Amino acid sequence: QQAVITDKFGRVLQDLRISVTDRCNFRCRYCMPREIFGKDFAFLPKEHLLTFEEIERLASTFLQLGVKKIRLTGGEPLLRKNIDELIERLASLEGLEDIGLTTNGVLLGKMADKLKAAGLKRVNVSLDALDDKTFMAINDSNFPSHPVIKSIQQAKDAGLVVKINMVVKKGMNDHEVLSMANFFKERGITLRFIEFMDVGQTNGWDFQHVVTKKELYEMIAKEHDLEPVEPDYIGEVAKRYRYKGTETEVGFITSVSESFCSSCTRARIAADGHFYTCLFAGTGFNLKDILREGISNEELKNTIINRWQKREDRYSDERTEETAKKRKKIEMSYIGG
Ligand code: GTP
Ligand code: 5AD
Ligand code: SF4
Ligand code: SF4
Repeated sequence: QQAVITDKFGRVLQDLRISVTDRCNFRCRYCMPREIFGKDFAFLPKEHLLTFEEIERLASTFLQLGVKKIRLTGGEPLLRKNIDELIERLASLEGLEDIGLTTNGVLLGKMADKLKAAGLKRVNVSLDALDDKTFMAINDSNFPSHPVIKSIQQAKDAGLVVKINMVVKKGMNDHEVLSMANFFKERGITLRFIEFMDVGQTNGWDFQHVVTKKELYEMIAKEHDLEPVEPDYIGEVAKRYRYKGTETEVGFITSVSESFCSSCTRARIAADGHFYTCLFAGTGFNLKDILREGISNEELKNTIINRWQKREDRYSDERTEETAKKRKKIEMSYIGG
């Protein structure tokens, strides 16, 4: 029997994003710039990470409170040791309808079969460019695009449902929008363009850098006929379209130009067990400590219900140049997007 928990604006708690590590094998300029996330950066020590037992307990509790979808994120989630074991534990929990993972794809190819066997259903692979020069300038790790493309194919062959995420930033990779669209259309894979967001304090965001959905749509519509696709459920993140005459979709994630806070049903748990009710939150609630202090199931449930019922977050609705620059926000690599 699943509960239905709503926040101050009537938004139901329905999805849970769990970050399993704050580390990454890339240093994307817009997410983990090397000047800050360099050799001396203090990543979370192992004892501060939630254990698999703790993640399983939290996931199970959230499922009892109405969550249906779980997505594992990072940093790069495939860097977490034995991640397939965690997936196996989570996949069998009662009430779970969908479990996915968001990855940069580097380690995905060789792990795809194992992840699928563990019960993973879907992967979203980040790929911001096909051209190596552009891709390497973004990931700042000398990593070319072809191994990621190969991983995508291997994930599909393993039976995972695959979507591609491309963050578009003006002057960074907007010249690749159409080639990316064509490439994934030909392969029948869904590509989603993501408007560059002002997550965290370190990514140097400015409105000037945003390529809006309208601009992206026009670039694609020059070459392709698109028709809108009805959302699968309320609160779906991407606006979806289909290339006419095909089954292939393309999507736009419009956090900046058309915010979707009014239907936001997502809770987030960072790798150190802090609970956040918005991607742009300044502070979270430490669930790890109360777990380790031996909280009962009933008290744990009530704590989460309480936080959700108090929730008033609608950051993207309120975004201005001022909030983008001044407001304290946690980093993307820590909260997992
Ligand atoms: P699906 O279940 O496949 O639709 O996954 P998803 O799109 O929810 O997750 P993914 O990790 O692929 O995220 C894609 C982009 O959407 C990332 O840039 C996320 O940061 C962004 N995103 C996801 N949820 C939210 C949200 O609640 N608010 C905002 N502003 N952006 C979000
Ligand atoms: N704006 C939009 N998307 C971002 N991502 C990382 N940083 C940003 C940002 N500033 C994307 C990643 C990944 C997803 C989890 O979030 O590329 O696809
Ligand atoms: Fe890039 Fe994703 Fe790693 Fe951030 S977490 S540096 S966006 S690969
Ligand atoms: Fe949800 Fe916050 Fe994103 Fe709005 S900005 S959609 S409230 S996570």
